[in-house]
Amino acid sequence: LFSKPWVFIRGVPSLKFLPPEGPPEIAFAGRSNVGKSSLINALVGVNGLARTSNTPGRTQELNYFVPSGYSGDEGDLPPMALVDMPGYGYAKAPKDQVDLWTKLVFDYMRGRSTLKRVYLLIDSRHGLKKNDEGVMDLLDKAAMSYQVVLTKTDKIKAAGVPRLISETLSALKRRPAAYPEVIATSSEKGEGISELRTAIALAITL
Ligand code: GTP
Ligand code: MG
Repeated sequence: LFSKPWVFIRGVPSLKFLPPEGPPEIAFAGRSNVGKSSLINALVGVNGLARTSNTPGRTQELNYFVPSGYSGDEGDLPPMALVDMPGYGYAKAPKDQVDLWTKLVFDYMRGRSTLKRVYLLIDSRHGLKKNDEGVMDLLDKAAMSYQVVLTKTDKIKAAGVPRLISETLSALKRRPAAYPEVIATSSEKGEGISELRTAIALAITL
């Protein structure tokens, strides 16, 4: 899956532009600037494929990425798609705009039957915030499988990572749709990326 190049195929500004439900999809959710787009680039090994920025609010549509080499015709569909999403929470954009992005992301996560799992990204420096809890409430209610990924571990002391993992795990205990494993990653240093690839390859078969 991750040994061939990946390409961008579609930006979806509202639900009516979604591609027909087909291959399994894996989506990346999290607060603005948590590192969703950077993590996708690290997973597929293509720097700059998903656009990243230090300014929160960079990703503004549901952006679809697939392994290259598929026509997209019936019978030649890609094996899966990765979906980069706008962040929630604070962003350098008008509030109405941010509200629309949040609604798009929430409606997609609730209603997409081919969405196999949501990766919920949490900044290692900040931990779970109130709006992350809100997203988990929604995913639990929708019975949509999700797994927490800690990002930017290069920004904290290495010794703090195991404790952060176990704190996060205990916060997930009573959440029925949460996968009971947390993956710590750094897109910058490549930490946790192969582990995440393995988890995704398994999730699309479920
Ligand atoms: P939005 O699209 O705005 O919601 O943001 P995003 O979640 O896609 O974050 P993005 O990948 O654009 O990264 C935000 C900033 O964090 C960028 O300046 C990245 O370079 C930086 N960043 C992302 N991942 C890492 C990481 O693992 N380590 C470090 N040090 N910085 C990172
Ligand atoms: Mg982004």
